[in-house]
Amino acid sequence: MPEPTIVESDFFEVIGTQRAMRRLKTDPVPEEYIKKIIWAATRAPSGGNTQGWRFLVVTDDAKKQQIQQWYNESWQKMLDSGYGHRPDLPEAERDSNDRVMKSATYLARHMHEAPVLIFACALMQGPNREITSGSSIYPAIQNLMLAARALGLGTALTTVHRAHQDEIRTLLGIPETVETAALIPVGWPKGKFGSGFRKPVEDVTYWDSWGTKRK
Ligand SMILES: Cc1cc2nc3c(=O)[nH]c(=O)nc-3n(C[C@H](O)[C@H](O)[C@H](O)COP(=O)(O)O)c2cc1C
Repeated sequence: MPEPTIVESDFFEVIGTQRAMRRLKTDPVPEEYIKKIIWAATRAPSGGNTQGWRFLVVTDDAKKQQIQQWYNESWQKMLDSGYGHRPDLPEAERDSNDRVMKSATYLARHMHEAPVLIFACALMQGPNREITSGSSIYPAIQNLMLAARALGLGTALTTVHRAHQDEIRTLLGIPETVETAALIPVGWPKGKFGSGFRKPVEDVTYWDSWGTKRK
């Protein structure tokens, strides 16, 4: 397998600029890149090192179209019910929220155009039934997205598809004991990577007792 080109290799630069990239080009992604980001996912910790994860890579156009229709339908229902309408937020957070909603709506309409959709799946049998070990899938997902960023690939962690999980299971032959924890579109981004809105460390860190902050 040829080694993928590492586009961005500074660790903190990768973390600082890894964000939801929802506007993706249709250009194909080489298979070795997909394998590389899944390799990164499988380096993550898991409860008892059970590694109860599977990654289902979807590139079939008809299947992607069907998934997009279900995803878009669920997203539209959420919008219709007022999801994301937050006039109460302070200005900086409201701007960020508006941008997220706009870009999430773009993704719902264009999900099938991503060259690759990856379902990050959690095996929920035996020891993995508990939230602690069952949630091992999420560090793996983060590893995958960081590795994608390092290669210049855009990703977004999405969960809206779960409203149609049963249909997705049927479409892709996924057993009932498996949870599709996230659907991650992967592709070359149309825009540039950059840092998203995040609260400062001092605002979210307490020292020795709840609520005690340090400057
Ligand atoms: C558990 C979880 C579920 C998410 N579900 C969705 C989703 O269904 N659709 C979507 O477009 N983004 C989803 N996101 C992405 C968030 O909206 C995104 O990480 C957040 O707004 C920060 O955006 P940024 O990384 O661009 O700054 C999800 C993120 C997490 C962690």
